Amino acid sequence: MACPRIKKPWDRIPESEVTPESVYINRREFAKKLGLTGVSLAPFFMGRSQGAETARSPFVAPGTLGSSCTGPYGHVAEFWVKKWAELFPAVRNTRFQVKRTLTDERIFAGYNNFYEFTVTKQRVKDLVEGFEVNPWEVKISGEVKKKGTYDVDDLIRMGKLEERLYHFRCVEAWSANVPWSGYPLSQLIDKLNPSSQAKYVRFVTVYRPNQMPGQKRQRQYPWPYYEALTMEEAMNELALLTFGVYGHPLNKQNGAPVRMVLPWKFGFKNIKSIVKIEFLKRRPSTFWSDASHEYGFWANINPKFDHPRWSQATETFLNTGERIPTRLYNGYGEYVAHLYDENERQFFY
Ligand code: MTE
Repeated sequence: MACPRIKKPWDRIPESEVTPESVYINRREFAKKLGLTGVSLAPFFMGRSQGAETARSPFVAPGTLGSSCTGPYGHVAEFWVKKWAELFPAVRNTRFQVKRTLTDERIFAGYNNFYEFTVTKQRVKDLVEGFEVNPWEVKISGEVKKKGTYDVDDLIRMGKLEERLYHFRCVEAWSANVPWSGYPLSQLIDKLNPSSQAKYVRFVTVYRPNQMPGQKRQRQYPWPYYEALTMEEAMNELALLTFGVYGHPLNKQNGAPVRMVLPWKFGFKNIKSIVKIEFLKRRPSTFWSDASHEYGFWANINPKFDHPRWSQATETFLNTGERIPTRLYNGYGEYVAHLYDENERQFFY
């Protein structure tokens, strides 16, 4: 399959606006490599057209887009920027370090999987403009004492916000180094007081076909998006309930106002724009395991087990386009290896 060379947003950024991280990036080289590796990066979209990028640059002056302000990096709801001004940037927890440089935000915020909008990664940042992320509530239900509907502003204050640099790895074999702001999900779970019957935690994304064109157009998918973890996984200290990225509240395209980040699992477990958290006795199915036999419940990163259609031994690092080796559990074995048997394929797909 030939991949057209799509002009990337970072091709248009004047040198004067380039952040220090960008000194590590040879953009032309990166774009070339991304273009060349497009076939291997496109497995989610086999047989679908890439679509054309809109002519308008997403990078406009703050305040010109109604309820969204755009920093140079896409759509961040001005409402949360103001409301959470004292919470951001969160103090970095230096225990979590990454190999290599951080991925430039212009790259990470312009290359998204958010199927509710489109399957074309470069277009998500444009289509999220009308997505309303305030007010926002999250319903907590199931085998838990403190059931109820929580305002996301209360939710963010139920744990101690911190920044963590995590290596993020998509099942499509691309990766990035990202500074997320959030707190361990375990801090929330401890406060909600689940019963001993609660063995799984299920998350659900908002269903708003009028704001999310992909929910209308891609009727083959079982909307809204849903994911789940075992209770042990949810309580693991790596599991981050995430409200921010790159030192500010989440961009809409990255899952505002609240998402999960689970660095030892493939990106598709990292559910965005959560409106429901349920505590369950039995293991629920997940969006991708219902949509396709190629994606399972566990989705732990393991270079030994290939996806049915491509290798998982290496990955393309989004900042530079380098092909780098994939690490077991994405390099987070010291935190999670005790939860699994690394030789059991069933634990990966
Ligand atoms: N969450 C929702 N609600 N919808 C999605 O389509 N895509 C997943 C995950 N969470 C997805 C989602 C996939 S496949 C990936 S790789 C990551 O989000 C991408 O996150 P990012 O766009 O912040 O890089």
